[in-house]
Amino acid sequence: MSSEFKIIGTSPVRPDALPKAAGTARYVADLDLPGAWIAGVLRSPVPAGRLKGIHKNPAFDWSRVCLITAADLPGPNVVAMVRDDYEILVQEKITYTGQALALLAAPDEALLAEALAALTPEIEPTTPALCIEDALAGVSRVWGEDNVMDEYRVACGDIDQGFAEAELILEQTYRTGLHEQLYLENQGMVARPRGEGLEVFGSLQCPYYLHKALAKALHLADKDLSVRQIVTGGAFGGKEDYPSVLAVWVGLLARATGQTVRLFYDREVDLLNTPKRHPSKTVYKMGLKKDGRITAVDVDLFLDGGANTTMTKVVLARACLHVTGGYKIPNARVRARSLATNSPPNGAFRGFGAPQALYAVERHLDLAAETLGLSPYAIRLKNALQPGDAFPFGQALGDNACASLVLHDAAERSDYERKRREYTGQKGRVRKGIGLSLCMHGGGFTGAGEDNMGTTVEVEYLPDGRLEVLSSSTDMGQGADTVLPMIAAEALGLPLDRVLRPLPDTARVPNSGPTVASRTTMFVGKVLHDACLNLIAKLADFLAASRGPARPEFAHGAFHLEGGAVASLDEAAEAFLARNGPIKGRAVFRPDPNLAWDEANYRGTAYKDYSWLAQAVEVEVDLDTYEIRPLRAWISTEVGRAVNPVQVTGQMEGGVLQSYGTAYLEDLTLRPDGRYSASRLSEYMIPTSLDAPEFELKVFEVPSPYGAFGAKGIGELSMDGGAPAVAAAVQNACGAFACEAPLTGERLFTLLEQLQSEPVHEITPPTSERARRDGEAAK
Ligand code: MOS
Repeated sequence: MSSEFKIIGTSPVRPDALPKAAGTARYVADLDLPGAWIAGVLRSPVPAGRLKGIHKNPAFDWSRVCLITAADLPGPNVVAMVRDDYEILVQEKITYTGQALALLAAPDEALLAEALAALTPEIEPTTPALCIEDALAGVSRVWGEDNVMDEYRVACGDIDQGFAEAELILEQTYRTGLHEQLYLENQGMVARPRGEGLEVFGSLQCPYYLHKALAKALHLADKDLSVRQIVTGGAFGGKEDYPSVLAVWVGLLARATGQTVRLFYDREVDLLNTPKRHPSKTVYKMGLKKDGRITAVDVDLFLDGGANTTMTKVVLARACLHVTGGYKIPNARVRARSLATNSPPNGAFRGFGAPQALYAVERHLDLAAETLGLSPYAIRLKNALQPGDAFPFGQALGDNACASLVLHDAAERSDYERKRREYTGQKGRVRKGIGLSLCMHGGGFTGAGEDNMGTTVEVEYLPDGRLEVLSSSTDMGQGADTVLPMIAAEALGLPLDRVLRPLPDTARVPNSGPTVASRTTMFVGKVLHDACLNLIAKLADFLAASRGPARPEFAHGAFHLEGGAVASLDEAAEAFLARNGPIKGRAVFRPDPNLAWDEANYRGTAYKDYSWLAQAVEVEVDLDTYEIRPLRAWISTEVGRAVNPVQVTGQMEGGVLQSYGTAYLEDLTLRPDGRYSASRLSEYMIPTSLDAPEFELKVFEVPSPYGAFGAKGIGELSMDGGAPAVAAAVQNACGAFACEAPLTGERLFTLLEQLQSEPVHEITPPTSERARRDGEAAK
């Protein structure tokens, strides 16, 4: 705990804790919406095809409902996102199962169901590309000439020289699957006509994303639009892009009917239609000295983007920049591509490309350690980035190079080395194993994103003495409504209970950017701090003008005037209010000219700072049932500043447990008909509290100059390294080396069957993968 602060470093009870626990919090589906019409979507039953028409049954009375097809749109057929390639409704080409063909609204559910049943899409199906391999092979042309949506490359050193120096060259392919965010509250959105314009509210992360999409699709002026967040029950990235789609749909229907229109997904509709984590395939080739030192890395990474860009371009960027992990790679070549497939678009999920990338590098280091007869801990320590070292994209680290710090701590506290030796070569039905992983997460947007965002925050001192924080950042359960007021209270020396944070409404709050990328505490918090300093400066000017002559200094929550007189913030603000009326402080993000990112060459400061996490996890593997059970996890993390230690603990334990779900439990695929394999919670298992290991957490703080009070982004960090750590623990328990997550019982069974004939240390460069990759390169 940091004693130089009054509020930072303490853990006040979150304002949303009691209402959420008691069930009194009102989510969008709890709101009273008298007379609201209900929206429905006619969806494609096939993943690829041509829409020839939509047949309307003439026996149905169409005057009782509202029907909108692509031909009826008032503006461009696009939901504005990263790239304008997301159609509101299919014009002609169908690119995934569940894609919207037409919209309906009706005054009640029964009539809506009748209307939907009276519509028959006429579709000419075509062959779909359902996975990365299909897309590469050109089974179907989903995007451009070759289905490659985006590509990034990073290189450093001399790759040929690096491999020439190597004493071992190891190549392996790693895969990760689809994952669902599984926020507790399903997606939901409401649009209500308001004068010339529209009011839209619902469960969402990024109010201004919706605002932009609505303005474009509905041809509405900014002043005629208001987008409000309602209490949001979890998001994890799943409410980053998709709420814009829902907003445009209900917005169109509300404009067309003149009614309030709502669209609330149930779990089945939500699971089947909302974005998932991008499946990945990473071909990792590494050259090493016998002592474990890495001489070269050559990586080919692929993400399955699904049919549209949505967030894929930026997810790919993060994957590309995290794929060499927290290690010093003197000679590197990284090629990262996203491929378009006939899958529903994949989108944002806590970690945003980093978990996929880190799975590959962390697993590959375990393979290298096994092959060289080294400890996975030793090989990591040997290559861990030290102060002065740089990532392959040229960004050098200083005392924020905390890889060794967290690695060492996790290994020590867990007694990793001793346990790993003890567990190696066990006999018996139920075996134990311990695994280790290291990860880091770049805080905020990639590259120049934060510099270009124009993040703006305001604070207003209200006549009743309370302070309002005005920001478009949302609390989706991660704690922004606690942490942002803490930052303001600390900066102004106010008691926390006098700081308010209203739910964001684009008609009232400035654009602080989207609530994504672990950027809120770090960057929005920093701008908020600046907005508070701006308020102080205004009051100091006011005091100087009225009491003169010198400008007072602000310290310990009060203004110190000449001659030893003191004026509290409240006295100053009240005097200002009495004389001049309302007072606001305002700040805009200030880019640091010393941190430059070269987008053309993909080099430079990729992220303003990094947070770090190493974990050791001990698991139990049942060789009769192939069940994996995490027993205990030692998490060592460096977070810059733990603004609220209890919330840091929550982020860490929650995120790590969520990552364990992706390690061995959460199995989702696309069926041949382009539909997800799970449509209910009995088919998509996530870890519950009963599956949680005992957590042992240690938090280190190396304050960052770029974050509020030194804080770095931590929301996603905890999700990044769990899957390879669990895989490593299973390897330690029973010798099975997994190259694919999740390591389900079926996969573990298959690996163990293979082990019967070939011991694990012989699973070295698989030549078939090499051949397959060469084949791809030739295409
Ligand atoms: Mo997002 S995964 O909320 O950056």
